[in-house]
Amino acid sequence: MIELSNVSKTYGSGAKAVHALKNVHLAIPKGAIHGVIGLSGAGKSTLIRCVNLLERPTEGSVVVDGRDITRLGAAELNRARHRIGMIFQHFNLLTTRTVFDNVALPLELAGERKAAIKRRVAPLLDMVGLADKAGMYPAQLSGGQKQRVAIARALASDPQVLLCDEATSALDPQTTSAILELLRDINVKLGITILLITHEMEVVKSICHRVSLISNGELVEDADVGDFFTAPRTDLGRDFLNDFLELTPPKELTARLLEAPGEHTHPVVRLTFSGDAVSTPLISRLARECDVDVSILQAKVESIQERTLGLMIAELLGDTDQTRKAMEYLKAHQLQVEVLGHVQRDV
Ligand SMILES: Nc1ncnc2c1ncn2[C@@H]1O[C@H](COP(=O)(O)OP(=O)(O)O)[C@@H](O)[C@H]1O
Ligand SMILES: [Mg+2]
Repeated sequence: MIELSNVSKTYGSGAKAVHALKNVHLAIPKGAIHGVIGLSGAGKSTLIRCVNLLERPTEGSVVVDGRDITRLGAAELNRARHRIGMIFQHFNLLTTRTVFDNVALPLELAGERKAAIKRRVAPLLDMVGLADKAGMYPAQLSGGQKQRVAIARALASDPQVLLCDEATSALDPQTTSAILELLRDINVKLGITILLITHEMEVVKSICHRVSLISNGELVEDADVGDFFTAPRTDLGRDFLNDFLELTPPKELTARLLEAPGEHTHPVVRLTFSGDAVSTPLISRLARECDVDVSILQAKVESIQERTLGLMIAELLGDTDQTRKAMEYLKAHQLQVEVLGHVQRDV
C-alpha cells in the first residue's frame, strides 16, 4: 500500500545542509499498522510527511496504492492526497469551527453538498465517540476529545491510509491507550493502513504489527513487533527496549562492574528469553546441570502481543569453567545472553 524506495530528503544546501532522510526503503502492506520509532530529530516527521508530499523527497519514489505520487501533477496529487488522512501531535483543529464543522471541512473543500456532508459526519462522530459534542468548539474539549475530532476529520474523505505523527505524545497514558484503541478499531473495521511515528515503545507495543527504527535519517531496523521486542538487532534498538523495560542494572552494581574478567570475578549477565524458554524452569536446571549458583538481581516478564518476553539480570556464581558452561547452556536453550561485566567475588 505504501512503498518508499531510496527516499532521501535534504533540507537546505551547502554547509547548512541537513540530511534528514538517507536512502530509506520501506514497504507497508495494505491493512497493516506500521510504526516508526526513533529519537527526537531522527527524521520521523520528515519521513511521514514524505508519504503525502507535505515534504517532497530530494530523491526516490513514494508509491501509494500502486501510484508513484512524486510524479503526479497538481490536480492528481490533490486527489491522491484525499485518500491519505493525517493526524498530528497538536491536533491542528480550527478553533473558530465547531466539532461538526471541523470534521465537515475536507468534505466542504471537496465541494460536497450539505445533506451529503451531514450524512457523512454524523456516523464519523459516532465512531469516535463524540456524537453528543457536534456543536462544541475545540476549546471546550479535552486533549483526547480533540484528537478524536482530528481522527474523524481525517476519516471524512474515506482514506485508505492514515498517517499519525506522534498522535498521542501530548496525551496522558490513559487517554493514549483510549486513542490507540480507537486507531486499532479503525484499522480493523475500515481496513485502513496506518503508518504511525512515535518515540514511545508503549505505542509500538500496543498497536503496531511491524516497526522500523530510524536513526540519523536511516532506517536501521525493520521487524515484526514481537521480534523487535525480543531480539532488537542494533544497540539503539536495545537501548529503546531496555528503557522501556526499565531493566538496567542497579547503580551500586554498575559502579562495581569491571569490563574484563579478572582472577576472582564472576559474570553479570542480562538474559532475554521468549517462547518456550519462558515456561521452562531453566534457572533451577542451570544450577543442577552446570553447578553454578544464580543470584537474580532483576527480573520481569512482559506480554508483547501474542509473545511472552522474559528478562533477567543475574550474577552467575562459579569458577570460570562453570560459568562459561552455564552461558553455553543458556544459549543452547535459545536465551540471549549478554555479559554486562564482571564483579569481584566476595571472599
Ligand atoms: N523544514 C526544515 N528545515 C530544515 N531542517 C529541518 C526541517 N524540518 C526538519 N529539519 C531537520 O531535519 C532533522 C529531522 O527532523 P524531524 O523529521 O522533524 O525529526 P523527528 O520528527 O524524528 O524529531 C532534524 O535535524 C531537523 O532539525
Ligand atoms: Mg517529529
